[in-house]
Amino acid sequence: MVKNNKLAAWLDEMKSLCKPDEVVVCTGSTEEYDQMWELLIAAGAAKRLNPEKRPNSYLVRSDPADVARVESRTFICTRQEINAGPNNNWMAPDEMKETLNGLFKGCMHGRKMYVIPFSMGPIGSPIAHIGIQITDSPYVVTSMHIMTRVGQAVLDELGDGDFVPCVHSVGKPIIDDEADVPWPCNPDNLYVAHFPGDREIWSFGSGYGGNALLGKKCFALRIASAMARDEGWLAEHMLILKITNPEGVVRYIAGAFPSACGKTNLAMLIPTIPGWKVETVGDDICWMKFGSDRRLYAINPEAGFFGVAPGTSMKSNANAMLTLNKDCIFTNVAETDDADVWWEEMTEEPPEHLIDWKGNHWTPDSLEPAAHPNARFTVSAAQCPVIADEWEELAGVPISAILFGGRRATVVPLVNEANNWSQGVFFGSIVSSEKTAAAVGTIGEIRRDPMAMLPFCGYNMADYWQHWVNICDKPNAELPGIYYVNWFLKDDSGKYLWPGFGENSRVLKWIFERCEGTAEAIETPIGNLPRIDGIDFSGLELMQEEIEQLLRVEINGWLAEIPLIEAYYESYGDRVPVELREELGNLKQRLEDAKKAAA
Ligand code: GTP
Ligand code: SPV
Ligand code: MN
Repeated sequence: MVKNNKLAAWLDEMKSLCKPDEVVVCTGSTEEYDQMWELLIAAGAAKRLNPEKRPNSYLVRSDPADVARVESRTFICTRQEINAGPNNNWMAPDEMKETLNGLFKGCMHGRKMYVIPFSMGPIGSPIAHIGIQITDSPYVVTSMHIMTRVGQAVLDELGDGDFVPCVHSVGKPIIDDEADVPWPCNPDNLYVAHFPGDREIWSFGSGYGGNALLGKKCFALRIASAMARDEGWLAEHMLILKITNPEGVVRYIAGAFPSACGKTNLAMLIPTIPGWKVETVGDDICWMKFGSDRRLYAINPEAGFFGVAPGTSMKSNANAMLTLNKDCIFTNVAETDDADVWWEEMTEEPPEHLIDWKGNHWTPDSLEPAAHPNARFTVSAAQCPVIADEWEELAGVPISAILFGGRRATVVPLVNEANNWSQGVFFGSIVSSEKTAAAVGTIGEIRRDPMAMLPFCGYNMADYWQHWVNICDKPNAELPGIYYVNWFLKDDSGKYLWPGFGENSRVLKWIFERCEGTAEAIETPIGNLPRIDGIDFSGLELMQEEIEQLLRVEINGWLAEIPLIEAYYESYGDRVPVELREELGNLKQRLEDAKKAAA
C-alpha cells in the first residue's frame, strides 16, 4: 500500500484536535453500512421500514432545528473579501481557522471519528477528484456510501496524490457519559466553511444534507468551482440527461435550475411524445471538461440521488418512485401505520393516519404538513430504472445543450434560445427564482440565482461569469447551445399554465431539433423562440391564448426587468464582464426599439 504522507499527517492532527474515542477508516462495505444502521436505530434516530414494502430501507428523523442548508452560516474564506464576492459570506482564513480550532477542540469526545475516502466521479475518470471526509455522524457515513464511491479502491487510486480534506462534526461531544440525543447537532454554533486557497472544507454543528455530506455542495460545487476556474473547466449545479429521438439519434443535455426547481424531475422524465426516450446521467451536479475534440464532456460526480420527496409521485416522477422500491434512506418524511413512508402529493388522497416528520400523530385535518417540505430520499443512482448505460463512462458524455431556468410566474417564456455563447452566459447570469424549502429562509421570495449557483459558487460571482465567458476562448471549441426555460408560468388565478413534468419533453424535442438544425426559430428582442406551432402541443388541454402566453415576448415585462438586472450587476461593481454589460445594453436597446415599433 502506498503511504500518503499528507493523509497520515492530517489524520494525526485531526485526531488530536477532535479527541474521538476511536478512529475508524471506512471500507464502504455492506457490513459497515449495516453497522451504522444498528447504531442509528439504537440511538432512536432511525427506524427500519417494513421489509415487505420497502426492503433494506430506513426512516430517519432529524432534529427540527436541522432540516436544510443554512446559507447564512456558509462561508467562503478567501484571503481578500472581494474574491469571495457579495454572493458569499466571508471571513478571513486565519480568523475562521481560529474559530474552528476552538469549536473542534474535543468535539468528538465520546464519539467515533469515521474516515471516509471518497471519489467524486467514477474512480479513474480524468474528470473525477478525490476527497477524504472525517465525521462523527454514522448517518453521514451511510449517506456517503450511497452518494459517493467510498473505500479502499479510492485510497488505491489516490496513492500519494492530493485530496480535498473535509472535516465534519455534529458539534456535540458526549461529556461525562451523559445520554446521547437521537440527532445530535449544534445549530447555535453552525459553520460550513470553505477554504478555496487550500482546497479544504470544515463543517460544524449540522448533520443534514448539503451541510454535512461534504462531497456534494461543499466539494463538488464550492471548492470544485474554484478548482475549475483555475484549471479551465466547469463545476455546475446541473442535471445531465440523455435524449434519444425516434430515429435513434442520441444527445446529452445539462440543465441548471435552483434547488427544488425540477432537476431530478427533468433528469428522469418520461416523454409524453411518442418514440422519444429520456435517460438519466445525473440529477444535481455536473463537471465538464473539454475533450480532445474540443467538445465539453460531462460526468455526474455523485453516485446517488439526494432528492426532494414531497411532490414526488407515480404521476409526477414514476422513475424516482421506482428507484425508491428498496435500499434507500428517507429523512423527515411521514410514517404510515404499516411502517412505510408517505409525503405530500405521493398519493391523491392522504392516508387516514400518519406519524409526521416530528414524530407526532397526524391526520388529514392536521394543519402542518406530514413530511417536512425539504424531506429527502437518498438512493443509489444505479437503481434508477432509466439510468443511462454510460452514466459511469470515465470520459463523460458530450453536451449538446445547456438549459438555465428558475421559478418565474411571469415574464420569462417557456423556452428561449441564445444566439451565441455570450448571450447564453447572459441568460444564466440573470436567472431569478422563487426561494424554496431547500434552504432555511422565506419561501416564495424572488431572488437572482445566476446559473442556479448563488448558494454554491465558491468565489466572486462576477469572476465566475467571466470564467463562463472565457470558456469560448478555446480555439475551435464546439460549445453547447444555451436555452432559458421556465416551467412555472402562472395564469391570473395562480394556476400553472404549463403542465410540466413529462410534458417538458415537448420543449426538449424542440431543443434537440435546434441542435440537429431541423427546427425553426424566430428571432425576437429577447432571443430565439419557437414559432407558435413550433412546439408540438397536440393532445394538451391548452387554449390558444395559453399557448400564446407561454411563448409571448413580454416587451413591457422585460423592460421592467432591465433596471433590476442593472442594479444586480451594479452590486458586483466593475468585475462584471464587459461582454455581459454589452448583452444587457443590447437587450435594452432591442426592447425599446420593439416598443417604439409597436406604438
Ligand atoms: P434539489 O435537489 O434541491 O437541487 O432540487 P431539484 O432541482 O432536483 O428539484 P426536484 O426535481 O426535486 O423538484 C422540486 C419540486 O419541483 C418538486 O415538488 C416537484 O414536484 C416540482 N417540479 C419539478 N418539475 C416540475 C415541473 O415541470 N412543473 C411543476 N409545476 N413543478 C415541478
Ligand atoms: C440543494 O439544495 O440544491 C440540494 C440539497 O441538492 S443539499 O444537498 O442539501 O444541498
Ligand atoms: Mn441541488
